[in-house]
Amino acid sequence: MKQLLRNTYVDNMRVILRCDFNVPIIEGNITDESKIIKSLETINYLLSKNCKIIILSHLGRVKTEEDKKNASLLPIKNSLERLLNKPIKFATDILSEETKNMALSLQSGEILLLENTRFLDVPNKLESTLNDDVAKQIASFGELFVFDAFAVAHRRHTTVVGIPAYLPSCLGFLAEKELSMLDITIKNPNKPFTVIMGGAKVDDKLKIIKSLLPKCDHLLVSGGIANSFLSALRLNVGSSLKTNDPNIIKELVNLMLTYKEKFAFPLDAIVTTTYSNHPEMKNINEIDTNDVIKDIGTKTIKKYGTIIKESNTIFMNGTMGIYEEKAFANGTREILNILSTKNDQVVIGGGDTVGALNTLGFKNEFKNVSSGGGATLEYIANGSLPGIDAIREEDNIEVLDL
Ligand code: 3PG
Repeated sequence: MKQLLRNTYVDNMRVILRCDFNVPIIEGNITDESKIIKSLETINYLLSKNCKIIILSHLGRVKTEEDKKNASLLPIKNSLERLLNKPIKFATDILSEETKNMALSLQSGEILLLENTRFLDVPNKLESTLNDDVAKQIASFGELFVFDAFAVAHRRHTTVVGIPAYLPSCLGFLAEKELSMLDITIKNPNKPFTVIMGGAKVDDKLKIIKSLLPKCDHLLVSGGIANSFLSALRLNVGSSLKTNDPNIIKELVNLMLTYKEKFAFPLDAIVTTTYSNHPEMKNINEIDTNDVIKDIGTKTIKKYGTIIKESNTIFMNGTMGIYEEKAFANGTREILNILSTKNDQVVIGGGDTVGALNTLGFKNEFKNVSSGGGATLEYIANGSLPGIDAIREEDNIEVLDL
């Protein structure tokens, strides 16, 4: 059992808090603050304990000086100031002496936000290639490391796995909640347990499909994943997205032979053609060479809906169709509508799926939404994540000398 913030003595401590503020920003404006809002519980708790808080987060992918221009955490600082109704200090150069002084001179109840940790990657990849010296240097700013950035826990990065090697550490409220939510799904699901797996590429999701098949009762597939399975069964999916890798096709066939009764495939689809964008509903065995599958059809919605209604745990990752386009959003919307009637039993994870919730009007509808994309899938597939493994066990009270 990992050490949890709720069981850790933190009063008046200088705390380094690793958050995930990887939010969408367009022209300097945050278009979805959910990740920031979710982190407030931990921040407010630390404030109530008179902590001095040093916050770290990554934002976007930063590989060049140019990338830095649109990846500053300044918009996050403004958002936090508004949400917490207090001023936040900001340090632009994480490794400077000045930043260290700012961190060490913080008073109780003050917050210092450090600039995007991925700026450390230019030019020497000091964040994404685990660097012990940098980890140690940042660790020296605080007395305790609180990890609340579940969505980046699959990255072996300096500010994820490096810092807790040098400080006592624990999981914040958000990371604790996300883990327990996924643990219930993976380790002890109430049966029947149904997995809904959509998305473009089966190659990306094969590992998680393989890990979930022995545990689940039903696997409902859609999108490029469904096309790949159907095509491996020698059904014509026309010009739709599918894998052509012979080794993967072989694996798909083997999975279907081993877990035959668990698979549910689309019965029909909304298609366009390679020469026209006009949507048409077709039975799955009537797809022509020029057809491109864009969404599931009404028979499939009914079939999947029946299975969902009879399930007691449902994990959804990926959408039914290209929900970003109005003409192909119906399948995802209808499945989400059905899922919303089983709210307590539903766990939704993965970047795409969360995007669909926001776009299709389900933003605050579901109780169990995992903020992680890659992290959620990796945790379900492997049962562990480097960023979580790095946090100390609750009975290990060793404090390392810096
Ligand atoms: C996410 O948004 O999924 C996390 O913040 C991880 O981001 P990354 O894929 O850029 O590491």
